[in-house]
Amino acid sequence: MLRADSGLLSYPIREVVEIGKEIEKLGKFSMIWENIGDPVTAGEEIPEWMTTIVRDVAASSDAFAYTDSRGDVVARQYVLDHFSSHKVCTIDDILFFNGLGEAINKIMNYLPKEARVLVPSPTYPSHATAESMHAGCSYISYALDPTNNWEPDLDEIRNKVRYNDHIVAILVINPNNPTGSVYTRETLEAIVQIAKEHDCFLIFDEIYHHMTFNGVDNTLLYEIIGDVPGISMKGISKDIPWPGSRCGWIEVYNAEKDDNFAAYIKVILLSKMLEVCSTTFPQKVLPLLYEHNEFKGLLQSRISKYTKRANEAFAFFKQIPYIHINKPKGIFYLVVELPNLPRTTLDAKNKATRLYINQLEEQPLVADFQFSYELMGSEGVCVVPLTGFGSTVTGFRMTLLQEDDAVFTETLEKIGRAINAYYA
Ligand SMILES: Cc1ncc(COP(=O)(O)O)c(C=O)c1O
Repeated sequence: MLRADSGLLSYPIREVVEIGKEIEKLGKFSMIWENIGDPVTAGEEIPEWMTTIVRDVAASSDAFAYTDSRGDVVARQYVLDHFSSHKVCTIDDILFFNGLGEAINKIMNYLPKEARVLVPSPTYPSHATAESMHAGCSYISYALDPTNNWEPDLDEIRNKVRYNDHIVAILVINPNNPTGSVYTRETLEAIVQIAKEHDCFLIFDEIYHHMTFNGVDNTLLYEIIGDVPGISMKGISKDIPWPGSRCGWIEVYNAEKDDNFAAYIKVILLSKMLEVCSTTFPQKVLPLLYEHNEFKGLLQSRISKYTKRANEAFAFFKQIPYIHINKPKGIFYLVVELPNLPRTTLDAKNKATRLYINQLEEQPLVADFQFSYELMGSEGVCVVPLTGFGSTVTGFRMTLLQEDDAVFTETLEKIGRAINAYYA
């Protein structure tokens, strides 16, 4: 019953939770969950004006109906007018999905098996996993360079695209999860140029387009794409924030300029028609939330909070020898690199926890996975190992979402203690 390639399926951001829950139960303590990018689970209050809008929309019959397969026409017009560009996109080029997770799967799966998408390393795991599952083998990646603010290695992209005819598309995640970097316009323009020269299309995951820290410029794909075919991915999980809505969309640019690309996009639309449509409700709510006069203020205050957290975490980790860190320019994640990570154990909360972790460590384990288990068992903090994002660099990603100042400081201290003990 098991597909031969099912071993390629993995999503470490959630898999680590299963292990964390067991450690929490055995150790009889409350874990600090630093693994998942969900502001609501992390404790952000949803303001009353938002819940009122949601309640009002739920009271209208329209919200109970199917909608267009492309998505609700008002929502599509709204995102076209506010987040996209009439120069490269029309209302029919916008397709709604049940979260970008679904869009990612469809975009990868409906390519022919031998047509490959070049993905970043590290990457948001859904992209890499969906790409591998569609190809039936490991994904092909380009490095993000930690010594250059995690900017993409342009030479590697150029060489991979030049010497591998199977690569038909380049994926860029900007602003970037997991690194928190925001790429320079020059870097992004260079990637567009490579795609143009080598007849590739572009996939830009721009779900964090609203989430850059003050003073950081964010270049969007539609500003620089010229006549190259491309897809921008956006959604409401992070900025509104409403991850549980499962609502995201793609904007298709320049489909008419390439018959192959246009035919492939049509297949994606047909696959959506087969399901009738994505969930109507969040699409009805979307323009009302973004248009509300309190939305901008709310977004701004959240960004200020993440900036403050990023500054504190950066200053804290900077003092610790052994490790390397880049200051994020946006979103709510922080990557800490742990180079030359030794293999060791830390004092676990109790014997039952120790025995459970020992059992986990009997399997072949990448060094940063071992570190994350030891951190959970000793200090009670759950982070995601960086190699879980397809990185060759060991380390971890934590979030900047903690609502409570004192708990955030305490979390940093706990992680710092574990790092110092580990390297010592
Ligand atoms: C870069 C990136 N793309 C896509 C997603 C998935 O978004 P959605 O909630 O719309 O499925 C995430 C979620 O964390 C993400 O970080």
